[in-house]
Amino acid sequence: MNIKQAILNAFREHPDQFISGEELSRNCGCSRTAVWKHIEELREEGYQFEAVRKSGYRLLNVPDSISAEQILSGLTTKKIGRHIYAYDTVETTQRLAHEAAAQGAEEGTIIIADQQNGGKGRMGRPWHSPKGAGIFMSLIIRPDMPLANAPQLTLLTAVAMSKAIEMVVPSVKVQIKWPNDLFVHGKKICGILTELNAEENRVNYLVIGTGVNVNHLLSDFPESLHSIATSLRIESGSSIQRAELVQAYCRSFERELAFYLENGFARIREEWEANSYTLGRVVKVYNQQNEIEGRAVGLGLDGALLVEDAEGYQHQVYSADLDY
Ligand code: BTN
Repeated sequence: MNIKQAILNAFREHPDQFISGEELSRNCGCSRTAVWKHIEELREEGYQFEAVRKSGYRLLNVPDSISAEQILSGLTTKKIGRHIYAYDTVETTQRLAHEAAAQGAEEGTIIIADQQNGGKGRMGRPWHSPKGAGIFMSLIIRPDMPLANAPQLTLLTAVAMSKAIEMVVPSVKVQIKWPNDLFVHGKKICGILTELNAEENRVNYLVIGTGVNVNHLLSDFPESLHSIATSLRIESGSSIQRAELVQAYCRSFERELAFYLENGFARIREEWEANSYTLGRVVKVYNQQNEIEGRAVGLGLDGALLVEDAEGYQHQVYSADLDY
């Protein structure tokens, strides 16, 4: 743990209290001058401290930062999010995550950026990633599982992120649109892009990208997205600390992944179905081969979307674009 992170941890454990420079230097294992230097650095990053002679420092305000220190301070997971690479601006966190994974990055590593200038969505679409407003992150995992089950991890991610959002913003009810979109009040709040590297039908690693619209105002979205996208701030009326949501996601993902690897897909399937935006709706499915119209009636045991057409025939859809 670095010094800044140890300082932030100390204030997290003693909210609203003064902590003396001496106590901080003891807790962090560094000199009082080093404490002062790091407090000044934190001030430059937007943290506000009150400093009172003989009492020490009190943390008054935490910026909405996605720095590694801020995310790691108070993170209770074992693997997910334990290694974080945070950037100001990148082209896409997906590419950096692939590079890191190819160089042996540990399971649970997260690449996160404040802004992307080449953010990628599914089907080669762009992902709008304005500065300071959203969460743009890619998570590397290395589950020992057959390639055929990999799409289940997109559904698992959707469940894990829905729970994290509802934990941090309880006034919001999240629904999942198959396979990879999270919706609030019928508008998109989060997209998931799962990419993988595999050998001989076994997964080598997965890069799971999530883009969450957190503190966007309507004016932060291009006009073309106004009727289809929303943000947690627009929906809840208040701004959200992005680091808190990243921490909640790490916890939620770690729990869901452990349960899934131990017990299989059944519980994810149930939770996905219970929070689905898609089921019961008439949908048009497009993929390379064909176009099907029918009602979405459920998820198969393996995670395929079951679409029943007018003749009562059930189609299993694994990867496609969906229109409602
Ligand atoms: C979609 O809905 O089409 C998926 C969007 C995924 C966006 C995220 S943002 C973080 C990561 N980096 C990217 O370039 N894309 C994913």
